Amino acid sequence: MEQLATLDDLPKHYVASLTQKNLVPLWPSLRNVLPPNQPIPLTQTTVWHFNEIKPLLLEAGELTPIEKAERRVLVLANPGHGLENMKATSSIYLGMQLLLPNEWAPSHRHTPNAIRLIVEGSGAYTTVEGQKCPMEHGDLILTPSGLWHEHGHHGDEPVIWLDILDLPLVYYMEASFVEGGDVQKVIGLDAGHRYAKGIVPTLHFMREKSDFPLLRYAWTDTKQVLDALANDPSYGGAAQISYINPETGHDCQKIIGYSAMRLAPKEVLPLERRSAAQVFHVIQGEIQIDINAQSHQLQKSDTACAPCFAQIDLINNSPEPAYIFVADESPLQKKLGLYSTRSRI
Ligand SMILES: [Fe+2]
Repeated sequence: MEQLATLDDLPKHYVASLTQKNLVPLWPSLRNVLPPNQPIPLTQTTVWHFNEIKPLLLEAGELTPIEKAERRVLVLANPGHGLENMKATSSIYLGMQLLLPNEWAPSHRHTPNAIRLIVEGSGAYTTVEGQKCPMEHGDLILTPSGLWHEHGHHGDEPVIWLDILDLPLVYYMEASFVEGGDVQKVIGLDAGHRYAKGIVPTLHFMREKSDFPLLRYAWTDTKQVLDALANDPSYGGAAQISYINPETGHDCQKIIGYSAMRLAPKEVLPLERRSAAQVFHVIQGEIQIDINAQSHQLQKSDTACAPCFAQIDLINNSPEPAYIFVADESPLQKKLGLYSTRSRI
């Protein structure tokens, strides 16, 4: 494509008079906003090791009481976006949150959608719209846009979870805000018990919340399905599941998509190149992840992100199966008609 003129090619007095009138010439920036053939992502491949996060998070527990933090979180920030912007990718926020025994993170609701993936510890819970969801290792809990949620802890050890939000996108749209609320009245069985198996207590079945009928996806159920797929010779594909709304079959949330996969010992899984940035988090086991020809070792509870159209291979060099949680921007891109895949290089 033709090289275009730059700002320096214009007389200074002309540029000054444009600026004074809130005008900007397009052509010096045209190749930046419309790069040829594929995007130029700010998102850099980044890895966060849990054994480096955990001591700093526990130290935060000593430095800052929950009342002064409201949510005690260390944000996993991508240097490509500037750490202060608190983005893992253009649309995805990642935070590692700590709740200590007997602490309570007060009820609130906000416009960004959030999920929690439980990383370590036991005894905490999240109450969403009155439904108390236990937080056990590997569980996925949804706190969608506009739903009241609070976190409590009856146990005796620190609980740490990974927060994933579409905050960067919602903030960019100038649509991000929060409201504080009162302690929620718990209305009985947790969401998983209500809806996970397709049967519901008739008295409490709330059709008006059917956008999010299932709020907790228990890891014990997910792992069981992944193991069954891996051990079924007739299945013949990668052992991967998608977290969906069981009523509609659509993605469980509207902007970020969630899935999980199992890599058998010695399995190598080449992924297709996708227009959506992706986040990988190790629930159990360990893997090597090759992103654009750079190898990274991920242990249990480590997290990595990869930019759009990255060439990615997941490799399990260990004698044990590995279980990986994946978040990506594909639901958003599909709704906007922007999603595509490309063949591997
Ligand atoms: Fe929240």
